[in-house]
Amino acid sequence: MTFTVAIDGLAGSGKGTLALALADKFNLAYFDTGLLYRGLAYIALDEFGEDFTKTNVINIAKSFRVNTLKESNLRSPILGKYASEIGAIPEVRKILIKIQREFKEKSPSNKGIVVDGRDIGTVIFPNANVKLFISASLEERARRRLRDFLTNDENISYDEVIKQLQKRDQRDKERSVAPLVAAKDAHLIDTTNINKEETLEIASSLVAKKLSD
Ligand code: DC
Repeated sequence: MTFTVAIDGLAGSGKGTLALALADKFNLAYFDTGLLYRGLAYIALDEFGEDFTKTNVINIAKSFRVNTLKESNLRSPILGKYASEIGAIPEVRKILIKIQREFKEKSPSNKGIVVDGRDIGTVIFPNANVKLFISASLEERARRRLRDFLTNDENISYDEVIKQLQKRDQRDKERSVAPLVAAKDAHLIDTTNINKEETLEIASSLVAKKLSD
């Protein structure tokens, strides 16, 4: 059995930073599943423009090759918005389940994997060894996102980031298939008032404990 850490949480909660740090610390392979949805959004916009349809996206998903994704193109706020819309299409989620589980089977690390997203502990890997659910207040998440956007020269205001996050939270939580929700056996970590080192410390002790079981 591949040792699996499943991390879910809200946009801007710090789950990606944590996942990467855990992977590094414990020598685990890392998979950011948001990139799948962002990748589909990127291709749909490129091929069909903003009026792409559900059928367009389903067809793209059917012939999707993960190794063609270029991460640096995928982090923009606009792709986050379209990725969240695409994440609400049940047929797309069904296709992506297979790709995500294959990552575990073909894992590049024999130590295990860390996977982050919205439905990892609930749908993709319900038997994960460690499940974490990361949250933070809307205002703190907006401040972090704004900092990232400004570093990447994205021109956007704090109020606009708040609006975008609220819409995204609502869509991700209320969709009919695999809505964002904490698994019953997930450890909840609120990062509003703690920094990334403290977050890593809390998560690391949970992972280390399971690894030594
Ligand atoms: O984690 P992120 O911001 O890169 O994700 C972008 C969007 O992709 C997110 O708002 C919803 C969707 N997504 C999803 O539905 N399920 C996942 N496992 C990961 C992302």
